[in-house]
Amino acid sequence: MNAMMVRVRQATMQDAASIARIDVETWRATYAGVLPDRLLIGLSEGRRAANWASEISRHPADVLVAEDERQGILGFGNCGAQRDSRIDYGGEIYTLYVSPDFQGLGIGRQLLLGLFSRLLRAGHNSAALWVLRNNPSRYFYERVGGTLALRKSMTLGGQSVEAVAYGWLDLPTVLHQQARTANRPGEEER
Ligand SMILES: CC(C)(COP(=O)(O)OP(=O)(O)OC[C@H]1O[C@@H](n2cnc3c(N)ncnc32)[C@H](O)[C@@H]1OP(=O)(O)O)[C@@H](O)C(=O)NCCC(=O)NCCS
Repeated sequence: MNAMMVRVRQATMQDAASIARIDVETWRATYAGVLPDRLLIGLSEGRRAANWASEISRHPADVLVAEDERQGILGFGNCGAQRDSRIDYGGEIYTLYVSPDFQGLGIGRQLLLGLFSRLLRAGHNSAALWVLRNNPSRYFYERVGGTLALRKSMTLGGQSVEAVAYGWLDLPTVLHQQARTANRPGEEER
């Protein structure tokens, strides 16, 4: 692969279609055999694009995209206030997805740190997120300093699934430490 220049920035309304494409693509790749086929087949890029456009218009600073100057949008994520009152972490990462062909290149970390910065600016010093228990991305969250905070059962597409929450108690410290890891000499451009 040629050297990539990936930049994380706030999403605009023009990004809604690209975000929806990656949203549907990563759900199908990640959750095949985990969530019911019916749910995955029924996902619609058009509907997701409308949802994302509405999300971006209502909370423009909370939706971030990772963009390569040649390849376009490669990943996205969004965040906001914690929705689960049992969780003592003020911020929440609602979504984080990197296009399957571009995973493992550092883009997820770059996006997550961008979302942490955003949460800090919004006044949240800590953050948590939910992930399905048998999703391998759990190891990604451990790699970027998250600790297991809580587990719960939830219903998705009529099927009961186990989810776990990862938490980061001290976002300023995480940003400081992870920025050092991410900027190891020679690793900024790939
Ligand atoms: C999870 C996800 C966001 C991670 O993004 P990514 O760009 O692939 O991850 P990065 O390249 O930034 O990885 C950062 C570190 O985590 C490690 N890592 C990433 N995925 C991993 C995995 N599945 N298992 C073990 N380690 C992993 C990387 O090796 C890297 O380690 P390093 O510190 O030694 O460099 C992305 O893979 C993804 O979208 N996956 C599918 C969808 C999904 O499950 N999303 C989460 C739902 S909540």
